[in-house]
Amino acid sequence: MTDQAKPKLRSRAWFDNPDNIDMTSLYLERYLNFGLSLEELRSGKPIIGIAQTGSDLSPCNRHHIVLAERIREGIREAGGIALEFPVHPIQETGKRPTAGLDRNLAYLGLVEAIYGYPLDGVVLTTGCDKTTPALLMAAATVNLPAIALSVGPMLNGWHKGERTGSGTIVWKGREMLAKGELDNDGFIKLVASSAPSTGYCNTMGTATTMNSLAEALGMMLPGSAAIPAPYRDRQECAYHTGKRIVAMVEEDLKPSDILTLDAFHNAIVVNSAIGGSTNAPIHLAAIARHIGVDLPLTDWERVGHKVPLLVNLQPAGEYLGEDYYHAGGVPAVVAQLMGQGLIRENALTVNGRTMGDNCRDATIEDEKVIRPFDQPLKTDAGFLVLSGNLFDAAVMKTSVISAEFRQRYLSNPADPEAFEGPAIVFDGPEDYHHRIDDPALGITSQTLMFMRGAGPIGYPGAAEVVNMRPPAYLITEGVSALPCIGDGRQSGTSGSPSILNASPEAAAMGGLALLRTGDRVRMDLGKGRVDVLIPDEELAERRAALVAKGGYPYPASQTPWQEIQRSVVGQLDTGAILEGAEKYQRIAQTQGLP
Ligand code: FES
Ligand code: MG
Repeated sequence: MTDQAKPKLRSRAWFDNPDNIDMTSLYLERYLNFGLSLEELRSGKPIIGIAQTGSDLSPCNRHHIVLAERIREGIREAGGIALEFPVHPIQETGKRPTAGLDRNLAYLGLVEAIYGYPLDGVVLTTGCDKTTPALLMAAATVNLPAIALSVGPMLNGWHKGERTGSGTIVWKGREMLAKGELDNDGFIKLVASSAPSTGYCNTMGTATTMNSLAEALGMMLPGSAAIPAPYRDRQECAYHTGKRIVAMVEEDLKPSDILTLDAFHNAIVVNSAIGGSTNAPIHLAAIARHIGVDLPLTDWERVGHKVPLLVNLQPAGEYLGEDYYHAGGVPAVVAQLMGQGLIRENALTVNGRTMGDNCRDATIEDEKVIRPFDQPLKTDAGFLVLSGNLFDAAVMKTSVISAEFRQRYLSNPADPEAFEGPAIVFDGPEDYHHRIDDPALGITSQTLMFMRGAGPIGYPGAAEVVNMRPPAYLITEGVSALPCIGDGRQSGTSGSPSILNASPEAAAMGGLALLRTGDRVRMDLGKGRVDVLIPDEELAERRAALVAKGGYPYPASQTPWQEIQRSVVGQLDTGAILEGAEKYQRIAQTQGLP
């Protein structure tokens, strides 16, 4: 590219601005501190940020500290200058009350960092569940050239010759513990076996899902999402990612060129085929809103529900992250979907080529792990979007409904997709844990379990608690799952057929706030509805009584951020973003320099 054709670098406003020489001198002398020379800073080389999510508090992403060295080498090799900086840590399982609270905080911090400092492009180091959407959301808002690098999954876990997968083994271990098949030490040992190396969860949980979708959106180098963290290919990929971002700056290839409606529809289709997490609709809605793409929740059913499950990873299947990579990863899945016309092939990706061109020739290397389109593991693997008098919108992954579950709840020949039963209502996860094994609750195999007070306001950030195990006495009788419905989220590592992300939540006075234990509820998957069988007048009376008492009660905030987020956060069906933040779009272009 000739010098004239190159876009003017925004970092020049800091380091090479003759109109403001005193400020330029101030910026320059500080950035010399860690060893860059005046010549380098004034050379006109693109300055690339490395948004570092790895730290001791974020062990899932910690390997990015090592990978950043290779990213830097790639950046330098391509003629750029690398400046690495920390992102607010988010660790899915360790953060209290929930890591969901931190996605929007990391987003805010990163927007300020990449907008307010002398950067021309940024490498987004993704991995653990919320880190990936937080970084993509911020890149969308600022709209500087950006490329994501996944840290990659852990190696496969093994225990007594069998694969043990992150998170999924916890759900299984809990059942074994409840049945007395394991003691506490045995339980811990079993769970620890699932985490044999650096990297993120090796199951198709939210981490593998969101990194696969970052690639399907076109924001990551093709074939890179699935590379396990410790593999040498991962280091090589870090180097190529560093090289590529410099070229992206020269080409002025921005998130808004890549994150189009076509890209989001590709991600929805891929999510069904990989058996992706029920957290994906929340995060994709958030990214879409920050880039200004209209992506209603109903698109998930319209575009994604009929797509079959091709990837045989736990929790829906048998295998784990290493197997997914060896079988061909995202490109092999995309190629299968392309063969059916399900992929919008012209969607542009970070390497400057289209999704179609990147994936057309990708082949499946192991058909046990990635199935050909005509031999799927399951049909209709996407989500149903449900509504009714208890909520306006919720999602359900129907493909995880087991035959036993279907028979128990959905076998009425007159109405094979509907079920009616009494409700038991829990107010938040603590209430559930205290009471679940109390026989006085009278939970039977016909009960529907409700979890409320677990949405973005009620349990700040929305807790992953809707998939509730039945009481131990029912598990002993062979009832391993009851229908679960709630305004919280569910871990992507859980295979429960729950109805999730119900919006508006109880704390926002959605219909769930009015439900009482003992009410009869009808769930009708055929009609896409969940309703409490109570006349409208009585619901209105209950609502008036609750409003008179000050609304649905939820615990006080414990930190300033909890209070701030609660005052501005939206509901899960529209991405649970900070309402108002979406009006700041493409600020690198629309707001000029800070
Ligand atoms: Fe971090 Fe699963 S807990 S990736
Ligand atoms: Mg999670």
